[in-house]
Amino acid sequence: MPAKVLVTRRQFEDQMDRLRAEADITVLTRPEPATREELLEAVKGVTGIFAHITDRIDADVMDAAGDSLKVIAEFGVGYDNIDTAAANERNIAVGNTPGVLTETTADFAFALIQSAARRLAESDRFVRRGEWKWFDPLDLLGLDINGSTLGIVGMGRIGSSVAKRAAASGMRVIYFNRNRADEEHGAELAGSLDDLLAESDFVTLHCPLTPETQGLISTSQLQKMQNHAVLINTARGPVVDMEALTDALGSGEIAYAALDVTDPEPIPTDHRLLEMENVTLLPHIASATVGTRKKMSEMTVDNILAALRGELPPNCVNSDQINWG
Ligand code: DGY
Repeated sequence: MPAKVLVTRRQFEDQMDRLRAEADITVLTRPEPATREELLEAVKGVTGIFAHITDRIDADVMDAAGDSLKVIAEFGVGYDNIDTAAANERNIAVGNTPGVLTETTADFAFALIQSAARRLAESDRFVRRGEWKWFDPLDLLGLDINGSTLGIVGMGRIGSSVAKRAAASGMRVIYFNRNRADEEHGAELAGSLDDLLAESDFVTLHCPLTPETQGLISTSQLQKMQNHAVLINTARGPVVDMEALTDALGSGEIAYAALDVTDPEPIPTDHRLLEMENVTLLPHIASATVGTRKKMSEMTVDNILAALRGELPPNCVNSDQINWG
């Protein structure tokens, strides 16, 4: 009997064929995510789960799958939706897709820095509303990128790639990280998060979501930022306290935010932010290019296929905790 694998969302067909060749797969093909009840039912007896950010894979899901479950492979580099401690206790390998989305995500974060600086989304809305009547020397003025300071919070692969782009665009770059970064691209390590917030014209978040980074940017941090400053979040929504951010944007504590991620996702359609001009809201698309999403799918399948053969996934985040004898 081939092992069973659950794929929780629709995926690239060529990668599903690779899985099908070695496993009995169920793909939840409809566009929307499975409900909690559907997930708990669909995992029964599976050896592998091809998981997405929209699935909360906790101890209950692992127990619903049962002893057969060996691998949970996340389609993404962030895996905060998976309870890794529960996976460790059950000897379940957790895989992810680092590296392949680095440049794509850095491109996107830098695009948000540029579009926020020059108020592109706001200007587009202005034209669509029919409010563009004449060239105005004093309207829709933005910030210069060249010569400004970018603060990067989390200087891993993606943060470092953003630093490279910023340096090439004439920005001074400072960063805050637990350790000195492997690749600084001329960026300076800030003395503290507060120093970084106070000195930066633009702050971009690239840290993982952990208990330490949850709510990292809240009222007192926003107060440290300059009034003309811009906050970019392409990391995870809960790193920012959304209510505090909404208040800060409303009161002019900071000038602008560009958010690819929110808390919750999707952002409720009656959220105050949707009424505000000084924020760009995007639907978690930083890695969404054809090439990158295909590579992410391939890596996720590689992680599952390795585990089905009894090998640790090539990108396994808890390899030191797994003992498959
Ligand atoms: C990632 O790779 O972490 C993206 O945010 C998708 O989850």
